[in-house]
Amino acid sequence: MCGIVGYIGPRRADRILLAGLKRLEYRGYDSAGVAVLGEGDRLDVVRRKGKLSALEDSLSDAGLTGRVGVGHTRWATHGRPSDENAHPHSTGRVAVVHNGILENYRELKARCQERGCTFSSETDTEVLAHLIDLELQGGKELVPAVLAALAEVQGSYAIGVVSAGTPDRIVVAKNASPLVLGLGQGENFAASDIPAILPYTKQMVFLDEGEVGVLTTDGVEIMTLAGEKVERSPKTIQWSVVQAEKAGYKHFMLKEIFEQPRAIEDTIRGRYDSGTGEILCDALGVDEAALREARSVILLACGTSYHAALYGQYMIERLVKIPARAELASEFRNRKPVVGPDDLVVAISQSGETLDTLEAVKVARAAGCRILSVANVLDSAIPRASDWVVYTHAGPEIGVASTKCYTAQLAALYLLGAAGAQVRGVTGVDVGALVREIVLLPGKMKSVLKRSAEFQDLAHRYAHHRDFLYLGRGLSFPTALEGALKLKEISYIHAEGYAAGEMKHGPIALIDRDMPVVVLMPEDEQWDKIKGNLEEVKAREGLVIALTSEGWGEDVRPICDEFITVPATHPELVPLLTVVPLQLIAYHIADLKGTDVDQPRNLAKTVTVE
Ligand code: AGP
Repeated sequence: MCGIVGYIGPRRADRILLAGLKRLEYRGYDSAGVAVLGEGDRLDVVRRKGKLSALEDSLSDAGLTGRVGVGHTRWATHGRPSDENAHPHSTGRVAVVHNGILENYRELKARCQERGCTFSSETDTEVLAHLIDLELQGGKELVPAVLAALAEVQGSYAIGVVSAGTPDRIVVAKNASPLVLGLGQGENFAASDIPAILPYTKQMVFLDEGEVGVLTTDGVEIMTLAGEKVERSPKTIQWSVVQAEKAGYKHFMLKEIFEQPRAIEDTIRGRYDSGTGEILCDALGVDEAALREARSVILLACGTSYHAALYGQYMIERLVKIPARAELASEFRNRKPVVGPDDLVVAISQSGETLDTLEAVKVARAAGCRILSVANVLDSAIPRASDWVVYTHAGPEIGVASTKCYTAQLAALYLLGAAGAQVRGVTGVDVGALVREIVLLPGKMKSVLKRSAEFQDLAHRYAHHRDFLYLGRGLSFPTALEGALKLKEISYIHAEGYAAGEMKHGPIALIDRDMPVVVLMPEDEQWDKIKGNLEEVKAREGLVIALTSEGWGEDVRPICDEFITVPATHPELVPLLTVVPLQLIAYHIADLKGTDVDQPRNLAKTVTVE
């Protein structure tokens, strides 16, 4: 996610802004900039691609002495990382920093261009600067101009606005992206997150959705988008700066597990028509012809992303009704695969930099395949090697063990499957119903996350075991693999994920009273078979941790050692819910064991080597 900082007071704004942006670096970024109001209505903007050190070098030469300004670290979502796309975006009179996604920026941009505005970036944010400037040209003061501009936009935003004509204030606003205000003595602050301003004040005011703040040296005024005054008392923050970077969570991984509902909301946002329920292929990033013409789909990935690829395989076959197969990128790239122009390759990678996946894409390209990638980092190597890209908008994932990016990948692949069904007119697939269900999913996921203590207690009861088995059938098979990977990679306990139908072909020999077996058995068409697997495990004194849908499976509850339920949802979305208890169980076992949860031994967040 992008990072925003705002300052107004007696000190040099550029120094406060740069220091604040440095304390937001953990949020991930690819460019940065500041806008400072100087003497005589000057508005100076300095921005640089790359690390904050590049911006710092430019600032040391710029000699900005102004006391009012806004700063930004950019995590690119629209428009590749560059100086021109870096924030703040300025019209010369108005400068804006923004964290979020403006869904209707294309139509607003066209409207501004019709009114003579010229654009210098590919970003959605620049539209906002022009909208505000047009309102100022129409005679409005800064605050009414910002309110009028925000009335035009749809989407998520946390913004900071300064204007050369109004040097005594900063206007901020929030909708679905984080923004906090800090109250000082004769100075006031705004930031995306507490760490940026905690060294200056512990008195924080949190804006609600659709609220606007006006910062002056005397204080902070809050109002609704309609301009109605809002009273909001400050809260005193007791965290250290390090605690604040994790938003009070003990580890980044736990924070990211809890960020999943928002990561899914941001990934699906703007990619369906809420009226008709249609998938918006352009906004999703897919080419309709490629979806229509593909004779088969080959999904390539590594690690957790491979588990997402397996899920994608089921999605494509169930919804698009064409052959699909998931392959380990490291195997695909070395086995001289028989593929060609009729095969659509889908490369899945959170980082967009995994070497095996990138090399597999090159092998597929050489064979004439067309390439679609699913990635979380804009303009990374794998998207650059692809014909089309579906970006997940999960924000940077700091923990090495992937959690929010995994469920965001599943959400993207779910939309891809629905888009394929829509484009090919697949009979029997109700795309509108698929869309309505995924819109409800973040709320259901939040209800599972609220039960974290339940999974912590369970984790403590099983943390002493040395071997775990995870079983699943159909769409739960990728979840079984993912649950096992989460446990092994952060707790160093041996865990295997297996297709439950394989039990009698070997793994059943492992079952004894020291072997916890996680059985994924949601309400689906394979219930009787997976129930049989559960009974096989119990007959050999294995420990069964059953995971099923609410209101389902009561007949097996008595023979289970643990019985976990998740809310009912569309069968294709069950994996996005059932993985959450497995993430939390793995996390709490690792935390109890005291391993380095965010940086597990021997692992890197991105594997860019053979
Ligand atoms: C998963 O928790 C691990 N971090 C690892 O398996 C990871 O999924 C794999 O290295 C692929 O990374 P990518 O998604 O960035 O390509």
